[in-house]
Amino acid sequence: MIRPHTDSTPQGLIGRIKRRHLFRLGFLAGTLLAVTEITALVVPFIKVNKILGLGIKLAVGSKESVLAQFTSTNDTPILNLEGKFFLIHAPGGIIAAYRKCTHLGCSVPWNAAEDQFHCPCHGSLYDKHTAVVKGGPAPKPLQLFHIADSSGTLIVDTNPLNVIDRQANVWDPKVLEITE
Ligand code: FES
Repeated sequence: MIRPHTDSTPQGLIGRIKRRHLFRLGFLAGTLLAVTEITALVVPFIKVNKILGLGIKLAVGSKESVLAQFTSTNDTPILNLEGKFFLIHAPGGIIAAYRKCTHLGCSVPWNAAEDQFHCPCHGSLYDKHTAVVKGGPAPKPLQLFHIADSSGTLIVDTNPLNVIDRQANVWDPKVLEITE
């Protein structure tokens, strides 16, 4: 039941105004506390502390050292675990293939016995020198990361949102950014 205010003296009026202020202050303090707690909980999840591996620019040595490694290993692709790519001896240069299968996204390993990339999930096969599809359900070649030569050091940009996405399943020399 709501009781009407019976005290109409100046003291009673002042008392009611003080109570109203106190309620407002209490509400404000409660809201501030809630916002602070929510912020403290959420911020650690959205704050980027340090990006490692995929997403950063990775130095992979000089063009000469990479080509020398290809020469001594019969062009075995060089796996960069941290950046999730293979350096590949393409016709006339070097490419960096993102090892994410273009079928359903499994990590594609190099299969030395078969001399090709062989996805373990559904059997897609990719070519050793171009990473174009040789068989299986993959709809297109492995995507390529951009490579730049910065003062003699090859830098691979592993940003998965900035890849060379080849739609045609053929080798196109235009994708070569590092030539021999
Ligand atoms: S995810 Fe590679 S073949 Fe299906």
